[in-house]
Amino acid sequence: MKTHTAESMTHLATPSYESLFSSSIELVNQALERYLDQRAYDPSSQASGLWDAMRYGTLDGGKRIRSVLALEACQACGGDIESILPTACAIEMVHAQSLIHDDLPCMDNDDMRRGKPSVHKAFGESTAVLAGDALIALAFGLIAKETRLSEKATPRQLLSVIGDFSDVTSVQGLVNGQFVDILYEGQPFTPDILEYIHTFKTGALFRFSLRAGAKLAGAPDAVVERFTALGEKLGLAFQIVDDLLDIDSSSETLGKTAGKDQLQKKATYPAFFGGETSRQQVAQLTQDALGLLEETAGMPPGYDSSHLKTLVAFIANRLH
Ligand code: IPE
Ligand code: IPE
Ligand code: MG
Ligand code: MG
Ligand code: MG
Repeated sequence: MKTHTAESMTHLATPSYESLFSSSIELVNQALERYLDQRAYDPSSQASGLWDAMRYGTLDGGKRIRSVLALEACQACGGDIESILPTACAIEMVHAQSLIHDDLPCMDNDDMRRGKPSVHKAFGESTAVLAGDALIALAFGLIAKETRLSEKATPRQLLSVIGDFSDVTSVQGLVNGQFVDILYEGQPFTPDILEYIHTFKTGALFRFSLRAGAKLAGAPDAVVERFTALGEKLGLAFQIVDDLLDIDSSSETLGKTAGKDQLQKKATYPAFFGGETSRQQVAQLTQDALGLLEETAGMPPGYDSSHLKTLVAFIANRLH
């Protein structure tokens, strides 16, 4: 089995993500548990099977990398965790939805996710489709209903976050990218198409995570744009690493079926450029991301980018 080690990807140190960010991960997990409580929304028990599927697909598993990025971006920009937490949970809900639908037989047809049977395997296809639908709508409601704005951000900024969320979850983001991903299965593709697919299907949610963090901290526009660019770099790097891990790792380590991209003739970076060039592209994106974090214009006094830099290193070097 080939591995792409930390050394081969970048020269950055790689402290354990799970241990360093355990309190943020726990915060997100606890909030998701609260927000996915059927009794809070729907006291009848008729749809308990739907709630079970939504909870199964969202709780218990997942690295929470996007929500942790949102929390850290907000804090680095001088915001507080309370103002971003509902949005961070909304990001995880839409991410979980994207995985539930991505695994369906009509999409990537994957039986395993997060080390257990995919939602459609555990609950049936119709419930998996509906659980995904419900998670998207619930996510929008969360941002609108649960966000407690600090005095630093304005209601207009919150509204623009909801607008951004609509873009990235739909036709200017995830759904668009998933459509083109499927469209190019088994078809010839160019580097432009590849970048398009990855930037849309995965980059969009990363972009949103960093952008929303900055906006809800009330950051000036230039900082919001810088964090948006940071999210784009990180999202693309994250998906290239996902492509590499599909080849280099095992189903056991990944908790999802390895080796599927080649079988399904997916448009991936290693399929086009080979492993080594793909790793160099990740290293370049990582350097670009670190460069953006070095910039201090518009940042609050005492700006500390160390957590975000650790996350950049984790994204480049992750093994699952
Ligand atoms: C998997 O994302 C899907 C991709 C966009 C590559 P993650 O690797 O973040 O999945 P979880 O949330 O940790 O399961
Ligand atoms: C996932 O891309 C992108 C999504 C938006 C879900 P993949 O299809 O490569 O993700 P995995 O490998 O199944 O997690
Ligand atoms: Mg897919
Ligand atoms: Mg897939
Ligand atoms: Mg993949």
